[in-house]
Amino acid sequence: MVEMLNNNPFSILAEIVPPIAMQYFIIAMILLIAVGTIIQMIHHKNLTYFFNNAKKAKLAATKELGIGEKTGIIAKTTVVDIGTTSELGFGKRRLAHVLGMYGTILFWISSAVLVFCYTGVGKSDSETWSMLWHVGAILTCLGGYWFWFFLRVDVSAEAHPWYRIIKADLFVLALLACSTFGLAWSYTQFNGQMGLSYLFLTLFIASNLILFGGVYWSKFAHMFYKPGAAIQKNLAEADGSRDNLPPPADAPEQFGLGIKREEPKHY
Ligand code: HEM
Repeated sequence: MVEMLNNNPFSILAEIVPPIAMQYFIIAMILLIAVGTIIQMIHHKNLTYFFNNAKKAKLAATKELGIGEKTGIIAKTTVVDIGTTSELGFGKRRLAHVLGMYGTILFWISSAVLVFCYTGVGKSDSETWSMLWHVGAILTCLGGYWFWFFLRVDVSAEAHPWYRIIKADLFVLALLACSTFGLAWSYTQFNGQMGLSYLFLTLFIASNLILFGGVYWSKFAHMFYKPGAAIQKNLAEADGSRDNLPPPADAPEQFGLGIKREEPKHY
């Protein structure tokens, strides 16, 4: 089992599929992300809203931020808010997201490194990158299945069964399908179960096509919008424009316990 983790499944696949075809596949997936995100931005007009709002907020700014100050805020937002998904508070939801987020980033980067640098005739092997590919897929599964079975709001708070699927689940399900079928493909290929390995390879390719081809319909692009919104929010806080919200009252910001008053379970 551990030996499987050191194995590059793309390298064995290269015996029947030319590495250049795999490289083109990755480039095609990147193009699909770009096209899906751009069409979504045009259609939903979220970028237009975002820039109009930022322009309006600038007029309300009470302080001009220097370039150093801006860089500092952006760096801190990137490391703290974005890097640890701080908007999810402290707890399971944030931990599950961080596992899935870093797992996916690792899985994607190592897929590209394995296919472009370590697959094909005369190319060497890299146990480290093969290991990172498997670890990335496993972390994505841990975070994603945890979210899917236990943390989704409509499951954890509204008592819907875990198997109820709606359009908004396209992203998480396609992401999970990619890492699950990727792992199953690697496992069966390593164990010489050729029939099963081709089945899982086909499912792996299909789920990648759905994940990247479905960007326009899914939550995929939140990984670009969320960081943009976090940076804008923190800059607006620092320059005093507060996103055109009213200034803070004299009294301390006390809003009571709110949703923390008790677990939501009144169905
Ligand atoms: C590679 C990067 C990322 C991946 C793979 C990823 C993955 C996911 C997944 C699978 C979900 C659950 C989808 C659903 O609600 O059906 C999710 C939700 C969410 N993501 Fe991300 N995400 C990424 C980046 C980010 C970033 C950078 C932020 C914020 C700065 C962010 C904030 C959120 C929030 C707030 C939710 C809702 C969570 C909840 O309902 O518990 N994500 N993300």
